Amino acid sequence: MTTGALTDEALLALPKAELHLHIEGTLEPELAFELAARNGVDMPYATVEELSAQYDFDDLQSFLDLYYATMAVLLTRGDFAELTRRYLRRAHAQGVRHVELFFDPQAHTARGVAFDDVVDGIGDALDEAERDFGMSGALILCFLRDQPVASADEALTAGLARMDRIIGVGLDSAEVGYPPSLFESVYARARAAGLHSVAHAGEEGPPAYVWEALDLLHVERIDHGIRSIEDAELVARLAEERIPLTVCPLSNVRLQATPDLRDHPLLRLDAAGVAVTVNSDDPAYFGGYAGQNFTAVRDALGLTEEQARRLARTSIEGSFASPERKRALLAELEGWRP
Ligand code: HPA
Ligand code: ZN
Repeated sequence: MTTGALTDEALLALPKAELHLHIEGTLEPELAFELAARNGVDMPYATVEELSAQYDFDDLQSFLDLYYATMAVLLTRGDFAELTRRYLRRAHAQGVRHVELFFDPQAHTARGVAFDDVVDGIGDALDEAERDFGMSGALILCFLRDQPVASADEALTAGLARMDRIIGVGLDSAEVGYPPSLFESVYARARAAGLHSVAHAGEEGPPAYVWEALDLLHVERIDHGIRSIEDAELVARLAEERIPLTVCPLSNVRLQATPDLRDHPLLRLDAAGVAVTVNSDDPAYFGGYAGQNFTAVRDALGLTEEQARRLARTSIEGSFASPERKRALLAELEGWRP
């Protein structure tokens, strides 16, 4: 047992799984400009500084506008590999041992990028990271909830041909006005094919969307889910059924869901027995990778060794890794000495 605050080094070394990470949201301004030059894509901003100055968001939509505009520089299998390679290096340096990363295929196929180039580029980098530093990872295909259901259906059909890489489906993009119920049939088809399922709910949307994700989409985890705190019956259910919430503290601050991190419900949900985890969402845009989300939580809310260990343990147990992989990761966590 240590006394006093957990150090940055201890929290970065804490072995953890990252369960809420949009690979397109790891596109740092420097790489965006490199790829724009290589691919002959016009950037709406002239310099890295000018682009970075736009990272001051009012809400989810203001972020999404920039997120979709900037990803236009990603065109080839090599681009997706380079993007993922850079993320995996940073994540590994912050204790991430296993990652289930989201990708948004509709945002790429709509621009003429081949579905398989996206999957294969990300997959190339995952293979390298496994070989070079023993990280494990897999892909979760996210449907854009503000696009037609027929488009999600097409993305799923493409995804079903790539179950060598894709382990599950998710739901992201603009939440309010696009309830999970719209995607009931798509999720039924994904689950019938043996895919795992998760969904963003309760980030900006109401607790009712979390109920729908559970009851209609039958998801295994909820992404964000922070507004569940407004509904005591929902909190009790999440705790009872041990449904993991993949919480992203710095994202919630930057998108003004919880403007002051000191008000964040993470540890209140933890105290209520909910299986919360800490993740980075879109780290290039929100000011920090996985380890930095832990240090920010420590600074704003305080974090005991026991809480940090529980957050990491929940991330491993709540992952879709194999039982053997989970055992190995849990053993590594046992050896963590802050
Ligand atoms: N919420 C919803 N959609 C997203 C996000 C997010 O935080 N990041 C990328 N797509
Ligand atoms: Zn997200």
